Amino acid sequence: VTGMEDYRPLYHFTPQEKWMNDPNGMVYYKGEYHLFYQYYPDDIVWGPMHWGHAVSSDMVNWEHLPIALYPDSLGYIFSGSAVVDWKNTSGLGSEENPALIAIFTYHEPEAAETDALDFQYQGIAYSLDGGREWIKYEGNPVLPNPGIRDFRDPKVRWHEPSQRWIMTLAVADHISFYSSENLLDWNKESDFGLEWGSHGGVWECPDLIPMQVEGSDEQRWVLLVSINPGGPQGGSATQYFIGEFNGNAFTLDTAFEQNLLPRPAQEGELEKAVWLDHGADNYAGVTWSDNPDDRILFIGWMSNWQYAQLVPTASWRSAMTLPRSLSLHREGDSFRVHSTVVQEAEQLLGAEIAKEELGPASYVDFQVNGDCLFTLSNDSNEKIQIQLTDGQLLFDRTKAGISDFEEGFAAIHKLDLDELQVERIELYLDASSVELFVNQGQRVMTELVFPTTPYTKLEVEGQARIKGLRRIKPMELTVANQ
Ligand code: FRU
Repeated sequence: VTGMEDYRPLYHFTPQEKWMNDPNGMVYYKGEYHLFYQYYPDDIVWGPMHWGHAVSSDMVNWEHLPIALYPDSLGYIFSGSAVVDWKNTSGLGSEENPALIAIFTYHEPEAAETDALDFQYQGIAYSLDGGREWIKYEGNPVLPNPGIRDFRDPKVRWHEPSQRWIMTLAVADHISFYSSENLLDWNKESDFGLEWGSHGGVWECPDLIPMQVEGSDEQRWVLLVSINPGGPQGGSATQYFIGEFNGNAFTLDTAFEQNLLPRPAQEGELEKAVWLDHGADNYAGVTWSDNPDDRILFIGWMSNWQYAQLVPTASWRSAMTLPRSLSLHREGDSFRVHSTVVQEAEQLLGAEIAKEELGPASYVDFQVNGDCLFTLSNDSNEKIQIQLTDGQLLFDRTKAGISDFEEGFAAIHKLDLDELQVERIELYLDASSVELFVNQGQRVMTELVFPTTPYTKLEVEGQARIKGLRRIKPMELTVANQ
């Protein structure tokens, strides 16, 4: 693990070197959480996409593995998902040794530079040895392009009631659902989204997840949709919808619909969306498949396309968020998705410290009783200010450190709390990031910051007090023998 000087996080996943973006192909199999990611091994900016690869037994400590998927004659390997084909529906494995199947977008770079529309299509690869060796399917593409420029990021899950695979695909300004019995032949089912949500940019990296409503035995389907640009703090962000999915189509829940406005918006009306994270730096996140429990396990790319390629790191670029557990709650007369750090991350919590001992990797737990202001600062008077006032939570990174790499970075990010009563704020501070959780993950803000030296002081003003302050230990990282 490298130190503070290059902003390398101490307990967030980063590539060993070079460029990373979206998390891909997250799947659990035989005791291992697999994490693949959009990877360009030759530079610290975006380029020909590969799938980088790491595994973990707990989503906290990671082992780097060799690159899993390389670009080939069909194109770069864009984002996608992975599943365990338990019933051998594809015939590519067996029931005794099921295949891990990765479903991803091929992107043809030369055609993308022309007027062509059909340069993105879906392909698959499979592994029969627990994800070490990947074989591209010889019948690729499995889902050709129907003549649409943005046609990507397949997220596949097994749909138990209809005994079929469902693919959720981002198609420019909406979502398309496809079904398959064998992961090889796909049929279009339906579209969703043209009339709803934020459309400030292209839709990307969707996920469709059945979730139990906390405290009841009702179920709803949550549809995550990342969008770039059009996010609440500028640039990219992830919105979500709550509704029903019947194996064919997704329909909005009428209680959730109240949070939105049908499009096109009337004069003077803004498009309305509900955001998974209200900070600037959580994008393209999706959930693990096939994990051994009922948890909904999420990880996001901790950056923003507005400046991802410009942030001041040198040998590597971009980290993932902490792994989070998503849950669905009734809130008022609607629903909300809450995000909490997975319990496995508790192993990272170290010694209690005093507020003069704040370090590059720290956890702070505030009890909040009303309007308040938290200031984290260093000796160069660089500071983050977090303020609760007038029913708003403000994250001010205008003086947080280096920001001249992009003009929009130094900003105050606002979260409207509406009627929400804030009782607790937790911060996970790492070398160049802050993850802020309101109450038990009712609202979240994930933010990058680049102080020239670590913040070492913490001040609290107003109606709040520090309930807990801990050092956070570095994660364990290993590198597999190649
Ligand atoms: C999202 C995204 C995806 C695409 C990938 C390319 O960040 O643009 O839509 O598959 O990145 O790297």
